[in-house]
Amino acid sequence: MSLWQDFVTNDQRLIHKWKHYFPAYEDHLSRFRNQDVVLIEIGCGGGGSLQMWKRFLGPHARIIGLDLRHECAAFSEDQIEVRIGDQSNEAFLESVLREFGTPDVVIDDGSHVMAHIDASFRYLYPRVSRTGVYMVEDLHTAYWPGFGGGLRREGTFIETAKHLIDELNADHTRGALEPTAFTRSTLSMHMYDSMVVFERGRHTSKQAPQIGRPDAHYGSKG
Ligand SMILES: C[S@@+](CC[C@H](N)C(=O)[O-])C[C@H]1O[C@@H](n2cnc3c(N)ncnc32)[C@H](O)[C@@H]1O
Repeated sequence: MSLWQDFVTNDQRLIHKWKHYFPAYEDHLSRFRNQDVVLIEIGCGGGGSLQMWKRFLGPHARIIGLDLRHECAAFSEDQIEVRIGDQSNEAFLESVLREFGTPDVVIDDGSHVMAHIDASFRYLYPRVSRTGVYMVEDLHTAYWPGFGGGLRREGTFIETAKHLIDELNADHTRGALEPTAFTRSTLSMHMYDSMVVFERGRHTSKQAPQIGRPDAHYGSKG
């Protein structure tokens, strides 16, 4: 069953997701199915997304939900653990990693406030596994003043992502930008409507070889 089918037929706890995220979830998360993985979702809502990740990822996955609201603790069940705290509190995030180890996937679906997204990303992103994935959802709030947003306003996560595109390409800036830990540990960034996804991984070497017969461009009759 596809994740989309699972979502639209859900009759368990409430899930609240934008429709257009589902193809992106399939693209970025399918490789983790049936693996021994740790997925952290910031923001439990009605608890249904935690159950959806458990169904999607299979019997070896550990799903960790983080939320401010104490009532979310009731969403704990086999393979699902919930910890109560603020996503912008580094000591809280540190305690979660100490307890559950390195996360393979982080999905930020929490407050959607720019300062909170930033704090979680700064602490968690470098600590995600070497080939893990970090997703930040609902970034339409990056354009909304009530969430610390605004069009091209410095400090919104959309603006941070634009700077990170340069950091991803730092090796090609001819010294204008020093490569960073982000440059070294990120393979790709994916910009969607309201969502940014980071795929972690290390390049072996950056080369652009030309391979093949130079005379074969237009077909060979000989
Ligand atoms: C949009 S809901 C999550 C929806 C859920 N992930 C789903 O897909 O159904 C946002 C959640 O973030 C929680 N939240 C808000 N501010 C937070 C913060 N600073 N730290 C942690 N969780 C927070 C809220 O209590 C709420 O449960």
